[in-house]
Amino acid sequence: ARAVVLCLATALGVALAAALAWRWRRGRWPVLALAGLALGWAPWPPTHLLWAPAVPTSFHRSPTAFAAHSLERGGALYQRHCASCHGADGRGNSA
Ligand code: HEC
Repeated sequence: ARAVVLCLATALGVALAAALAWRWRRGRWPVLALAGLALGWAPWPPTHLLWAPAVPTSFHRSPTAFAAHSLERGGALYQRHCASCHGADGRGNSA
């Protein structure tokens, strides 16, 4: 959520900077340079998430809320049922 807010704030700031640069001739280039830096700095979502093809499970919602206790339970279940093949860290290249 924080990354989305930062991206939206950056987009708004860049739009305001563009409007300012259009009106304020003398400060145009520094303002545009700052806007360019802000664009590069913003935590844009990774593009591979946008270009990856969807699979049926892409649209599933978690039946449990995203919470510390569900992560803990999932971690315990993973250790019990999955780690033997996928390894302790889940990379899948051990065991
Ligand atoms: C008996 C060994 C074994 C166990 C136990 C096991 N897996 Fe797997 N898992 C595999 C293998 C082998 C593959 C690769 C199958 C393939 O590519 O056709 C796989 C693939 C997967 C994939 C797909 C990964 C991908 O990149 O497409 C997921 C997700 C997965 N397992 C999750 C789990 C979960 C969650 C558990 C525990 C509930 C689990 N596995 C338990 C052997 C196992």
